[in-house]
Amino acid sequence: MDRRELLHWLRCDDALELSELWQRADRTREEWVGDAVHLRGLVEISNHCARSCHYCGLRAANRTVRRYRLTEEDIYRCALQAVQMGYGTLVLQSGEDYGVEGHWLAGLIRRIKAATPLALTLSLGERTENELAAWREAGADRYLLRFETSDRALYQVIHPDHGGTVSDRIAILRRLRALGYETGGGVMVGIPGQSYESLADDILLFRDLDLDMIGIGPFIAHPETPLWRARSPLPTDNQVPPTVEMTCKVVALARILRPDAHIPATTAVAVMHAGLGRELALRRGANVIMPNLTPPQYREMYAIYPGKADRIEVAEACDRQIRSQIASLGRFVGSGQGGRRRRPAAPSREHPATLKIAVCMGSSCYSRGNNGPAIETMRQCVEAAGLIPDISGHLCENQCTRGPHVTIGTTLYSNVQASCFDELLRHHLAVLREEPHG
Ligand code: SF4
Ligand code: FES
Repeated sequence: MDRRELLHWLRCDDALELSELWQRADRTREEWVGDAVHLRGLVEISNHCARSCHYCGLRAANRTVRRYRLTEEDIYRCALQAVQMGYGTLVLQSGEDYGVEGHWLAGLIRRIKAATPLALTLSLGERTENELAAWREAGADRYLLRFETSDRALYQVIHPDHGGTVSDRIAILRRLRALGYETGGGVMVGIPGQSYESLADDILLFRDLDLDMIGIGPFIAHPETPLWRARSPLPTDNQVPPTVEMTCKVVALARILRPDAHIPATTAVAVMHAGLGRELALRRGANVIMPNLTPPQYREMYAIYPGKADRIEVAEACDRQIRSQIASLGRFVGSGQGGRRRRPAAPSREHPATLKIAVCMGSSCYSRGNNGPAIETMRQCVEAAGLIPDISGHLCENQCTRGPHVTIGTTLYSNVQASCFDELLRHHLAVLREEPHG
């Protein structure tokens, strides 16, 4: 798909023709990333921010916000909750808060990685090269940094430079990839002054940056910001509208151009079209949802834009609603960390099969050995057997006396010791080979 075709779709308002785009995106999603919807537990660890973006309620210049920063114990409890709820990834997000110190966070990353099978995604703004490298070394897997728009002039208007350093998020994304992170970028749709041409360039940039994750949300300004109810400098027919439909077009086109990327149905879409926004995005190319695990008393304070705080504040209730929404679409909740797969799913010598392993993280099994180092041993054993490990945690199975428990494929094993996992795996695979197929 080239720029001309992208522009055609972005400007198209024929419902019948658009249904072709929705179907094409949905087929591409099904073919490349399947029917799984990955749940990533989101923790908003701090609402302090040194920057003053012209649309965001967390901007430093907004004195009406009550600020907070979670403690290590708060965040660690959220990580354990993510495991208990069966999520494979924890996302730690904040404003650009230098009070979230590099060495402190590296310690916390190590602690979470040692105790859980979670993948860790960071979304903490533009941090120093040393910090990004240290967090990667501590075990962080992914980094999200939206570039918001590829139009340099427009970007400068909405996201002023800070501390005498020019903000170049596209360069930072390239650096993150070089450090070994899975990288996520993304844009806002309908920024005042955003033309169709510049939005088409944004979508082409998703492909050129080879992004692993792409976050796309409608532009919503906070009332305490300069862009609240701002008028566009562009003629009406060239200003991109900040609508759910336009956001869905960008989701669909991103899916077609970057077919194996992970694309969330963002909270902003859900907020803008209560009840249906998230579902529309999932039908039009999205395959990820980020349920909010931030302790409820802090959620209202993370007010990037109005109406963002979850209407359902109890994580379990929100989780139930999301799972039933996913099931109603004929989809299912993905297991394991849900990282980007750069290979086709069909197993062969070159492209090995995935082996699902579910580790009981209940307190009894955990204390008997189902901890971070044991999970790392399991991962290494599976890889040594030529398979791709897909490891997730789950709650107590009420068979504690025979723990620690590990389920390989669909077989539950008791009294599993990491030191003997290699042997157990060989036994499991041998039994599988002997089973008649058909
Ligand atoms: S958009 Fe991000 S960097 Fe900008 S003010 Fe808001 S939290 Fe800070
Ligand atoms: S803690 Fe694993 S079965 Fe109870």
